[in-house]
Amino acid sequence: MPQAVLEVRGLTKAYGQIEALKGIDFEVAEGEVFALIGPNGAGKTTALRVVATILRASAGSVSVEGIDALKEPDRVREIISYLPEEAGTYKSMTGETYLKFVANLFYADPEKRSAALERGRVIAGLDERLGDKSGSYSKGMARKLLLARTIMTEPRLAILDEPTSGLDVLNALEVRDIVKRYAKGGAAVLLSSHNMLEIEYVSDRVALIHEGRIVDTGSPAELKLKHGADTLEDVFAAVAS
Ligand SMILES: Nc1ncnc2c1ncn2[C@@H]1O[C@H](COP(=O)(O)OP(=O)(O)OP(=O)(O)O)[C@@H](O)[C@H]1O
Ligand SMILES: [Mg+2]
Repeated sequence: MPQAVLEVRGLTKAYGQIEALKGIDFEVAEGEVFALIGPNGAGKTTALRVVATILRASAGSVSVEGIDALKEPDRVREIISYLPEEAGTYKSMTGETYLKFVANLFYADPEKRSAALERGRVIAGLDERLGDKSGSYSKGMARKLLLARTIMTEPRLAILDEPTSGLDVLNALEVRDIVKRYAKGGAAVLLSSHNMLEIEYVSDRVALIHEGRIVDTGSPAELKLKHGADTLEDVFAAVAS
């Protein structure tokens, strides 16, 4: 087993009376795409936001590259990147200016800046539309710009909440390829989706999350075999009932 980049242990999160996470455990290794999958309200976004150091856990631990995310969130923020479920771009900036802005924010060295900017351009794949104001982009175009922003800085852990939401088939395919390739380059990717069919293509391992608990974890093939199911949707139906 390659080294774990992310380790989550006994993670609990309550919003007042609502227990959104009831003690979840998982780890994501270097080179791995790991997906939390489950229906609306299962706790996916809550888990991702805690890992991204945006929300405080009620109990449990999160560590990234051995750094305790609850005790040293600032150090963890330097090595992670988070794409929220509903993120916006700066609408009056062009895509190009936005990527430049991010590159300048992250790197002082001019060579590193231009290398990051070039990675961003390639990932966004918007070609000449990169020169247009991002407020004029379609939902899918804006999503790709945001994905570019998230991984152009080469985080050790990329946290992507529903990365393909709002994308058509071709764009979703492209985004899945980008995500896979990024992980294979030696980083870790944690993503969420309620689309269990598409997740098979992108994830090395998945955790099925239901009402704040992980009900099973494994590779899509392992899980289908174990539950005698043809699809992850069937696996989910089997474990959720
Ligand atoms: N800010 C909040 N205040 C109160 N309850 C919340 C808050 N955010 C989430 N919840 C509750 O926590 C539970 C988990 O929500 P969460 O957003 O993590 O689910 P999800 O799996 O991401 O769902 P979706 O697929 O719809 O994005 C739900 O019961 C939700 O109502
Ligand atoms: Mg969500």
